[in-house]
Amino acid sequence: MLENRSRDYVEHRIRAGVLEQGTVDVLSGAGVGGRLEREGIVHGGIHLQFAGERHHVPLSELADGRHIVIYGQTEVVKDLIAARLDASLPLLFGVTDVAVHDFDSAAPFVTYRHDGEEHRLDCDVIAGCDGFHGVCRPAIEGVLRSYSREYPFGWLGILADAPPSSDELVYAHHERGFALLSLRSQTVTRLYVQCRPDEDLAEWPDERVWEELRLRTALDGWSLNEGPVLEKGILGMRSFVVEPMQHGRLYLAGDAAHIVPPTGAKGLNLAIADVTILARALERWYADGDETVLDAYSDTCLARIWRAEHFSWWMTSMLHWLGDDPFDLQLQLSQLSYVVSSPAAARSLAENYVGLALPS
Ligand code: PHB
Repeated sequence: MLENRSRDYVEHRIRAGVLEQGTVDVLSGAGVGGRLEREGIVHGGIHLQFAGERHHVPLSELADGRHIVIYGQTEVVKDLIAARLDASLPLLFGVTDVAVHDFDSAAPFVTYRHDGEEHRLDCDVIAGCDGFHGVCRPAIEGVLRSYSREYPFGWLGILADAPPSSDELVYAHHERGFALLSLRSQTVTRLYVQCRPDEDLAEWPDERVWEELRLRTALDGWSLNEGPVLEKGILGMRSFVVEPMQHGRLYLAGDAAHIVPPTGAKGLNLAIADVTILARALERWYADGDETVLDAYSDTCLARIWRAEHFSWWMTSMLHWLGDDPFDLQLQLSQLSYVVSSPAAARSLAENYVGLALPS
């Protein structure tokens, strides 16, 4: 495992926080679920707020008892690093000049620099889990077809030393822009407001963020808990997919192959699904030389990925302020009313939000 950042960087970068039950099951099955089982917070629903009212969507009730678990991706990363180091398996941080070679042959290899020295790693296969800005996808750009959608807004997110103000996540549609109330623990909240994609953080002192959060989530008889801001940042919003996710002995997984806007809370879950499918295919290949499952890796992953792409785009389009077009606004309000009043519509949201089962 070659990581170009430092251990400190990857263990402190604030990322997503919602794990599907299937993701939790995979982590537990791999023996890295101990802390997650103790510290993860189980949620059986979410709230959708629009037109001045907050509605509860009982996800578990609608999705056969399946739930989500609130546990930061940063914590998952710490657990994975600890397990890898405990097993005395190689994991290098601060690696530079990574390049992948001969992946269309039976003897692929990776070259990189570490601690000032050049290295060569001979491989059976290369898993390109190196994110949207990594080197693996560009190495096979010529054989890929890509699909993308940019959104004309971003999210400004803060991590705050304040207990959650709501028992479950609140997704709020508002004329000042979308807002989301999430959490990391019983004492730390994660909160977002829709902003411009090129927003300048300097224009968002803490008090302005709190003011927007208060206005966008306001409700009679309810108030937002506030506290010191621990971290603040801006996230771009994009949908992106490349096909196929494999070429020769190089397999792309996670953000290297696809991006979703965060509204559906799918990014990390999709990445874990990809590597689970890849690991199972590799087990089969090593066990009896059968390549059929490995050859089907991309198709198997893409079926789930496109479902999540649609769901994330749909949640994003339904919840963000899209501008002053009254037709768009009426469509959003109609869709939101439908989701909170029709069990069939709510069940569709719930099934996607808690996550579809991995192929067996
Ligand atoms: C988060 O807690 O960071 C979070 C939660 C739900 C989302 C996106 C982000 O849809």
